[in-house]
Amino acid sequence: MTGRIKVEFVSVARPEGGEVVVFADDTLSVSATAAAWLGEAGLEQVRRAAAVEKFKGAARTALVLAAPAGIAAERLVVVGVGPAKDLGTTDWTRLGGATLGKIAGAQAHILFDFPGGFAPSPEAAGDFSLGLRLRAYRFDRYKTKKKQDDEERDDVPSEIALQIADPAAAKAARKAAKAVAEGVTLARDLVNEPANVLDPEEFARRAGELAKLDVAVEVIGEKQLRELGFGALVGVGQGSRSDSQVAVLRWNGAGEDVQPVAFVGKGVTFDTGGISIKPAAGMEDMKGDMAGAAAVVGLIHTLAARKAKVNAVGVIGLVENMPDGKAQRPGDIVTSLSGQTIEVINTDAEGRLVLADLLWYTQGRFRPRFMVNLATLTGAVIVALGQENAGLFSNNDELAQRLTEAGKISGETVWRLPLQPEYDKLIDSKVADVKNTGGRFASSITAAQFLQRFVNDTPWAHLDIAGTGMAAKQTDTNRSWGSGWGVRLLDRLVRDHYEG
Ligand code: BES
Ligand code: MN
Ligand code: ZN
Repeated sequence: MTGRIKVEFVSVARPEGGEVVVFADDTLSVSATAAAWLGEAGLEQVRRAAAVEKFKGAARTALVLAAPAGIAAERLVVVGVGPAKDLGTTDWTRLGGATLGKIAGAQAHILFDFPGGFAPSPEAAGDFSLGLRLRAYRFDRYKTKKKQDDEERDDVPSEIALQIADPAAAKAARKAAKAVAEGVTLARDLVNEPANVLDPEEFARRAGELAKLDVAVEVIGEKQLRELGFGALVGVGQGSRSDSQVAVLRWNGAGEDVQPVAFVGKGVTFDTGGISIKPAAGMEDMKGDMAGAAAVVGLIHTLAARKAKVNAVGVIGLVENMPDGKAQRPGDIVTSLSGQTIEVINTDAEGRLVLADLLWYTQGRFRPRFMVNLATLTGAVIVALGQENAGLFSNNDELAQRLTEAGKISGETVWRLPLQPEYDKLIDSKVADVKNTGGRFASSITAAQFLQRFVNDTPWAHLDIAGTGMAAKQTDTNRSWGSGWGVRLLDRLVRDHYEG
């Protein structure tokens, strides 16, 4: 793992040396503590520099003074927060990310107090520290030379002291934020890792490392999967040199008899399309076709690391979709774990084949309160929603509503798309119970209809994360190709509705 930083919560003191961050509103007012520390001469210097740089204190902009005269800092970074009256609605995680982006030194003090006497909650400090950690992430494991003059420098701060009014009160929030950051980091690392390194076996091994957090881990190998009847999943992986795997991760943070919540992930470690092979352009991105499984592993890590009072199950299907003499063909008919037969029209519609068996298995074995699956399932969802929202499909309005809310709070937003019998007809097969593609129209929806045939009557939601999980948009809190999308959303869902 890379780009890890140390974030300490300390009491407010006069910072000395290193880099110092203070916050200013849109009138260039700073907190009383910051004003006292800067002194009248320091404040005047800030005002003059702000005039020259046209810094107006707008949210997440910054003014930097290098080696400022008479100020005990190598660099003074003034970060804007916008109008002081809006501080109550600040997205603290985003502000944390933006702030980290402005720090250049190895060590920094952040005066986490604000103009107008605004006192942020312990949760705000926690969210801010989450933003710092998320922005610091780098995947540089394979860089043997460090660049000095990158647009975004390769080296990020390593130690941050966050000066807050009551560090003791924010201890829990800091710990939870650290757990979330670790989960997102783990998911990003998995998504970024190339497929020659991260094959199904290696992925299963890495998921197994959660055992050190008291997560119960079971790995089911290909031979056993075949015996158990995972015909749809095993069919996808049969052209690969690597054995297909299913990993089951269980975090038991609530009582033994408490019904679990379940998360299911598509883990296609590389998707060539199989015999229905994809064009060469952009195929390298298909190393990220396991972002759903990565998010599930990251989420279970987070829940275990923060000792969430919930029973949670993570089920991931790990396969590689390759063309080969043994690979499955278009026209093949496979028997899924549910007993339903599937006509494989296109071997590139493989994710739904993997999920069909995982969903059936999960509902049958765990009888969960709900199942949420995450999958980089369709290119069409990128056409529909771009990189701003994941596609949400659900058979349960309450679950859909809760996910939508959790999305707004966490910043990982979702947009609901319809399920309807008319769409379901499009995947009826002439020779089997169902076929794995429904044609050009509404193809994200027909993919979801396919999944729905394997969920029985369990409350269920499908998140199509093709546009959000990989080749991700650059944001204040993410500069990585693999975003780790879903960990924050689902941690929020669990926290707000399924704990205690
Ligand atoms: N993994 C792809 C979907 C995908 C595309 C994810 C682009 C991320 C970026 C999936 O397995 C796939 O190939 N889907 C096909 C389905 C089609 C053959 C019905 C698609 O979306 O074109
Ligand atoms: Mn595919
Ligand atoms: Zn795929």
